[in-house]
Amino acid sequence: GTAKKEGASVVFKLYCLAVLTVMAASYTVLMRYTRTVEGVRYYSTTTVFVTECAKMFFTLCILLKEHKGSIRKVSQELKGNIVGKPMEMLKMSVPSIVYAIQNNMTFIGLSNLDAATYQVTYQMKIPCTALLSVMMLGRSLSSMQWIAVFVLTGGVILVQGIGGEAVSHTTGTEGNYVVGLTALTIAVFCSGFAGVYFEKLLKGSDTSLWVRNVQMYSWGMLSAFLGVVMHDYQNVRENGFLYGYTPLVWLVVLLGSGGGIYTSIVVKYTDNIMKGFAAAAAIVLSTIASIMFMGLVVGWMFVMGASLVIAAIFLYGLPKTNTEKLPVRKSGT
Ligand code: C5P
Repeated sequence: GTAKKEGASVVFKLYCLAVLTVMAASYTVLMRYTRTVEGVRYYSTTTVFVTECAKMFFTLCILLKEHKGSIRKVSQELKGNIVGKPMEMLKMSVPSIVYAIQNNMTFIGLSNLDAATYQVTYQMKIPCTALLSVMMLGRSLSSMQWIAVFVLTGGVILVQGIGGEAVSHTTGTEGNYVVGLTALTIAVFCSGFAGVYFEKLLKGSDTSLWVRNVQMYSWGMLSAFLGVVMHDYQNVRENGFLYGYTPLVWLVVLLGSGGGIYTSIVVKYTDNIMKGFAAAAAIVLSTIASIMFMGLVVGWMFVMGASLVIAAIFLYGLPKTNTEKLPVRKSGT
């Protein structure tokens, strides 16, 4: 195949979106489970750090594979892009640090809110991301697409409001509602901003996705480590870094790191707005899975919400849009 370099095929995009969808769904369920149901409470700041390390490891493996196993070539490329381009490295610190804040905030949100409130609030990142994409990337959405964005948000909220309530058997435990909601609101803005900023840097230069990811995760490891030191230094000294790491927590790490890597692939081949559509499909699918496997009972609100999500996908015109490149700005920057 010679056309391989000319962007990804529709099948590949759908595959990435599907994997991300499944990962995001199981990630949220498992993360919440390990934070609210299981006995021993692990330190979530360490999980954010371990997840950054895992993403760095995966990325380096992929780079190594791209260079046909030549460690020398990989280190040459990385040296050129890390030591050799300090300004680019500095720019990447912005999305990376903002993501580190987001990743810690979602843990705080999940530990303090019931599943329904968490999911509904977190959906605000869909319109937030769309708005930031327009403002920061110079993208334009047709009025139909704006409508689709809001239909999607409404659809997910309907799906979550009911589906979430039915599964959130831990409502009213030690959670602090105000803390949870504040943390999650911060996470919403961080998600939108970091995602769009990463997309801007990725698509605004020739630097490859994997080199960009190494740049990102270097800062990610650093800031996540600072998070551990600032929040759990004493805990870690007393009980150890990996205190409370059950196999399920490792699964959270695996899903979180896989999800992050797939997020970056999805953003490269589609964009942050489409990622929101994938996440919405994830919630619908995971609810359907709960109906099938956990005997979850849903009412007409779920059916309506799910229909809205599907309608939004078509309204937006997903199959037709190609956003692998940034639009050319008309005015000077
Ligand atoms: O909630 P949202 O979809 O914005 O979360 C994106 C996640 O993807 C974050 O946890 C972030 O750390 C991760 N990510 C990544 N690599 C990228 C972009 C995002 O690991 N290049």
